[in-house]
Formats: sequence, structure tokens, C-alpha cells
Amino acid sequence: MNIGVLGTGIVGQTIGHRLIELGHKVMMGSRTADNRAGLVWAKAAGSSASFGVYGEAAKFGEMLFNCTSGTGSLSALEFAKAADLNNKVLIDVANPLDYSRGTPATLTVSNTDSLGEQIQRHHPLLKVVKALNTMNVDVMVHPERVRGAHDVFICGNDGVAKATVTKLLTEMGWESIIDLGDITNARGMEMALPLWISLQKKLGTNIFNFKIAK
Ligand SMILES: NC(=O)c1ccc[n+]([C@@H]2O[C@H](COP(=O)([O-])OP(=O)(O)OC[C@H]3O[C@@H](n4cnc5c(N)ncnc54)[C@H](OP(=O)(O)O)[C@@H]3O)[C@@H](O)[C@H]2O)c1
Repeated sequence: MNIGVLGTGIVGQTIGHRLIELGHKVMMGSRTADNRAGLVWAKAAGSSASFGVYGEAAKFGEMLFNCTSGTGSLSALEFAKAADLNNKVLIDVANPLDYSRGTPATLTVSNTDSLGEQIQRHHPLLKVVKALNTMNVDVMVHPERVRGAHDVFICGNDGVAKATVTKLLTEMGWESIIDLGDITNARGMEMALPLWISLQKKLGTNIFNFKIAK
């Protein structure tokens, strides 16, 4: 499948590599055509990789990943034409974290709204599925790096889109995928970040994840 990965940071790069490893073609997108990280990534990632501005990556992808900074996600998607977003699945891994006042970062939206919902409201025909935001990127793409059973959460309004995302997550190695329901559940998924940050400090590693017992 052709997949557009919006974002040139470590998350976009790592997910991009993994998708190519799984046999997909990836175009990474950025605000600017001369973004060094994107150009270097595409060169290193081989013939299944390419790089362009956000609008080009959105057009290229049959499915999209939002791997932009949470404070820049809405503006990143404004670079894309509606026709290049409508009816596509967008996997939103971004967290609305604001580091402008130092660490720990604060959430720019919470309780009664979420970044996932904001994206869905701004682009009603885009099929937003929030996923993979509650773990470190190295765990996202290789869940086996955490020993034992553990969970990835998804939510979104479109059942077929969630089935498509579930299939892709299974390809990545995920065995326990918990569908929390509609996109309003992105609130809880994003508000889990302060807990994740506390755990990271306590455990002294990024390689851990949530496991739900009942
Ligand atoms: N690091 C992790 O393990 C992890 C885990 C879970 C979720 N996440 C989330 O994944 C996302 C990506 O994280 P990251 O560390 O790879 O990268 P990042 O530094 O958070 O974001 C980099 C990307 O955001 C874009 N960006 C920044 N401000 C923008 C703006 N105003 N308008 C449009 N685009 C803007 C940059 O665009 P340019 O390319 O044009 O510079 C770049 O592509 C974040 O939302 C993060 O919270 C990260």
C-alpha cells in the first residue's frame, strides 16, 4: 500500500522504516521541500521511500500517519487539499504536548476535547483513528521489545477504518488491540501521557507499555 507519513521526526522516520520493511511504499511529508531530516531519511530508506511537502505526501498515501508535533498537527493537515484527505484513514499517533514552558510538558487540550477530535472536526471526511500514542516509538513498531502481553489502544468513528488499522497493527506485531470506541476516547488516550511520563522517570527506560488486566 502507498502510505503518507506526515512528520520528519523520530516517529515519522521509525514508522516509515517499519512500513517499508513490511512491504509498503512510503512518502514522508514536511512543511518544506528542503527539510534535511526528510531528505536524508528518504535517501537512506531506499527505493520504496520518497519525500515531499505535506500536501504531496497526503496525495500519495492511500492511508496516512500523523506523526507531527501535537501543536503543529492541525496546521500540518491544512497543507493538504481536501480531496487528498477525504475518505482516507489517518492514524493519529500525535500527542498534544506543549514543551514551551519546559518539562514536564502540559497537554494543550484535555478533559472535554482531544487532538484526535480536533483533527476529525476539521476534516470530517477523513477517517481518524487514534492509535500507538501511548508508548515509545521503538515499542510502537516492534511490540515484542516489551516482554509478555501488553496492549495498544485504538479509537475512531469509522468501523471499517479501525479494521484497516487493526490489520496494519497486526502486521507490525501487535496481538492485543483494544478498541475503545469512537474518537472521543482519544481524550483518555492522550491524557494517559502524563502517567506515561511519570512511569518513564520511575522505570528509567522507554521500553515498557500498559497491560490491562481484568
Ligand atoms: N517520541 C515518541 O516515542 C512518541 C511516542 C508516542 C507519540 N509521539 C508523538 O508523535 C509525534 C511526533 O513526534 P516526534 O518526536 O517524531 O516529532 P516532533 O518533533 O514532535 O514533530 C516533528 C514534526 O512536526 C512538524 N511540525 C512542528 N511544528 C509544526 C507546525 N507548526 N506546523 C506543521 N508541522 C509542524 C515538523 O515539521 P517539519 O518537518 O516541517 O519540521 C516535523 O515534521 C508527536 O506528536 C509526539 O507527541 C511520540
